[in-house]
Amino acid sequence: MVEMIDLALADLKFPPPSSVLRELRQEISKVNYYPSGDYLELKQAFCNYLGPEVSLTSENLVFGNGLDEVIDLVTRVWGGVNLIPSPTFSQYSMAAARSNQRVISSSMLRQGNYELNFDETDLKKASLVWVCNPNNPTGDLIPRKKIEQTLDDARGMVAVDECYYEYTGKTVVDLVEEYENLIVLRGFSKNFGIAGLRLGVAISRPENIRKIERIRQPFNVNRMAEKAGVIVLKHKNEYKKIWQRVLKIGRKFAAEIKRMGYRPFPVNANFVLVDFLDEKKASEIFLKLKNNGIKTYPGWSDEDFEGDLNQHIRFAVSVEKHMKLAVEVLRR
Ligand SMILES: Cc1ncc(COP(=O)(O)O)c(C=O)c1O
Repeated sequence: MVEMIDLALADLKFPPPSSVLRELRQEISKVNYYPSGDYLELKQAFCNYLGPEVSLTSENLVFGNGLDEVIDLVTRVWGGVNLIPSPTFSQYSMAAARSNQRVISSSMLRQGNYELNFDETDLKKASLVWVCNPNNPTGDLIPRKKIEQTLDDARGMVAVDECYYEYTGKTVVDLVEEYENLIVLRGFSKNFGIAGLRLGVAISRPENIRKIERIRQPFNVNRMAEKAGVIVLKHKNEYKKIWQRVLKIGRKFAAEIKRMGYRPFPVNANFVLVDFLDEKKASEIFLKLKNNGIKTYPGWSDEDFEGDLNQHIRFAVSVEKHMKLAVEVLRR
């Protein structure tokens, strides 16, 4: 069987640095032990990673089995009426569905561009508002002012998912002390190449974190993920080179797409959304890629993201060879 090239899932297509793998291997022999449960060493390491500019402590953090679990926990604590911009990452509405909660979906596409502009009455109704920055799947960065305005106008909690923070360095984590209704989410799975282990974190005021602590399972993060979190942060400088390489490959791919006359969205993470300007054309291209062994995410599927993207395909950024092949197939 011919192996498909996976440009659908946006996990890191590069293995973790060998120094990380070496340290991880040493931990395998200790899997007979439970994880720490309080995750204090990991919390300390993450506080250091956040830097001295934000004076946060372990009481501001709670870790989860991937960001997906954190999304679920946040939804269970503050959901009820979930205001979700569209298109965006599908797990916000899926978490709401799993808890039988209400969703207000608000389209943010204006003439094909993504602009975060919530309706004021929706903001007053919602118990939980989701903001994804940069937004999956459009790649757009949300201006800080817009997030501050949302925090000011919302009656409920505002969750800012910065899953792809490492690619842009843009964050509102420094606003956690100022806004009691802010919770920021950060991922490890994708950016640090440990999607197979699962790790994510939420950052908020201690009183908010305690609400999540009350409902999370005692060992929700497994021992290898806990150790991996500490190890990858130690090696962050080696990862920086990988993130720069991913952005460079992604932006080069977007430039090629533009030359073909299609419309790529901004590249601020390890994926590129492309508007093929016509529904029929997009579905033909999707099939052509598939028939040539390349798996992508069609915008019209609800699996990874929801919203009105009937002529769009999302490409995960992979190694140069795979992106070149995708360009070749598109040119044919
Ligand atoms: C915006 C966003 N948040 C959260 C997640 C989930 O991350 P994890 O793999 O850590 O569960 C993803 C993964 O696709 C994502 O794109």
